[in-house]
Amino acid sequence: MVKLSPSVLTADFLTLKNDIERLEAAGADMLHLDVMDGIFVPNISFGVPVINSIKKHTNLPLDVHLMIDRPHRYIKEFAAVSDYLGFHFEAGSPVAETLKEIRNLGCKSCLTIKPCTAPEQIFEFLPLCDMVLVMSVEPGFGGQKFMPEALNKLSILRAEINRLGLNTELEVDGGINKETAPLAVNAGAGVLVAGNYIFASPDMKATAKEIKALK
Ligand code: DX5
Ligand code: ZN
Repeated sequence: MVKLSPSVLTADFLTLKNDIERLEAAGADMLHLDVMDGIFVPNISFGVPVINSIKKHTNLPLDVHLMIDRPHRYIKEFAAVSDYLGFHFEAGSPVAETLKEIRNLGCKSCLTIKPCTAPEQIFEFLPLCDMVLVMSVEPGFGGQKFMPEALNKLSILRAEINRLGLNTELEVDGGINKETAPLAVNAGAGVLVAGNYIFASPDMKATAKEIKALK
């Protein structure tokens, strides 16, 4: 079954508690939290204090997507409030060491690649990844258009994960909607991030159900 990880980036942060309750009732499997520093990406979002507050109000696993420069500097702080903790291959941290540190701190490790990165570049790190996140938009903003090049990258990673006999989950983030979700699942994604699509949906529950039923 496909997992749905809604991104709260487009939610109204003053009424976030309500939105999280709606997402829980709709059947979200985890919550995708986009941390941006204005350096690695041209946008600033939120950090540990906000995630800590969210953590107190939900039992959903927190899927934290760090879009920050040299993330190894902050792994300890974020690991304390995350379930899945992911960082970018391109962000200037020692990749293997950072993945190992995340696991040692009791979180699931996730390595993320931007549209400019070829999947083969992260093959050597797959055994250290509990999840791999393929960006299907340039990181930084919600509401962008899905880049179809991500599909081939998902297929390549899925084939390599299977070849190595790993349990690594494969997640896709950016521009997921009614049309692109089935394509991503067909290419091998098992975890779908959705921001605007889920929040704009007139019936969140039905939309979530549809995504989770994809095969
Ligand atoms: C973009 C973020 C995404 C974003 C997804 O940098 O990583 O998680 O919130 O939003 P949608 O689903 O609207 O593209
Ligand atoms: Zn994200």
